[in-house]
Amino acid sequence: MSENVAITATRLGKTFAMGKQSVAALRDVSLTLPAGTLTALTGPSGSGKSTLLHLIAGLERVDSGTLEVLGHPVHTCGQAELAALRLREIGFVHQDFSLLADLTLLENVRLPLEATGTARNDATTAACEAMARVGLTGLEQRFPAEVSGGQQQRAAIARAIVGRRTLVLADEPTGSLDSKTGAEIMGVLAQLRDEGVTVVLSTHNPANLSHADQVAVLHDGTLLSFDAAESAESAEGGVA
Ligand SMILES: Nc1ncnc2c1ncn2[C@@H]1O[C@H](COP(=O)(O)OP(=O)(O)OP(=O)(O)O)[C@@H](O)[C@H]1O
Ligand SMILES: [Mg+2]
Repeated sequence: MSENVAITATRLGKTFAMGKQSVAALRDVSLTLPAGTLTALTGPSGSGKSTLLHLIAGLERVDSGTLEVLGHPVHTCGQAELAALRLREIGFVHQDFSLLADLTLLENVRLPLEATGTARNDATTAACEAMARVGLTGLEQRFPAEVSGGQQQRAAIARAIVGRRTLVLADEPTGSLDSKTGAEIMGVLAQLRDEGVTVVLSTHNPANLSHADQVAVLHDGTLLSFDAAESAESAEGGVA
């Protein structure tokens, strides 16, 4: 892998069994994502955006093709190697947030650091910084059920960016946010990119494409186009 490449997918395929039927969620997807860039995955519901993010994170196994993530061949990696990669280098914002209900927002956000042995005080400091970055200062001691859906989403983003992550994967990170907060969160993700973090996100919101270096358009599991953001925007008739 070249040092400047974060992710290389080659003829990537993923099929889900649905009883006797099977659904091809991804077919022959090939793309190369440079390190330190922000990529937006877009396309209709069911086009394979979440599946691609899950494969990159090693949350689902690759069925065909190859996938290199941060120098690791995740199509052949064992579960332990994938878990270690996820814990140390990858932040993932789940489409459904996946916050732990019995932990406060602060405890949720500092969990990845504590899991890798960071001292409690240092983890708390880093978690408060990440929460401040997404506008959650003052809500550290609340439980997920005690805050709004948008605040839960921001806590999930704080958990994904806490500490020094190499790669942040975000599945519709602005989906539950009003347009102003959504724009702020996109600004946070773009700032991370400017600091050298590789960011890949899925989105239905054309306004988010303006922050992207490149846009991948999926349809029925195939990659329709993969362009620098400007040409993708002009192909859509311009993005405000
Ligand atoms: N665990 C699963 N079991 C069976 N089918 C699945 C599973 N996960 C995804 N699929 C199917 O794979 C296809 C791609 O789904 P995916 O969730 O990746 O789409 P998406 O682009 O993220 O959609 P959305 O915009 O609604 O989030 C869909 O047909 C979906 O029904
Ligand atoms: Mg999805």
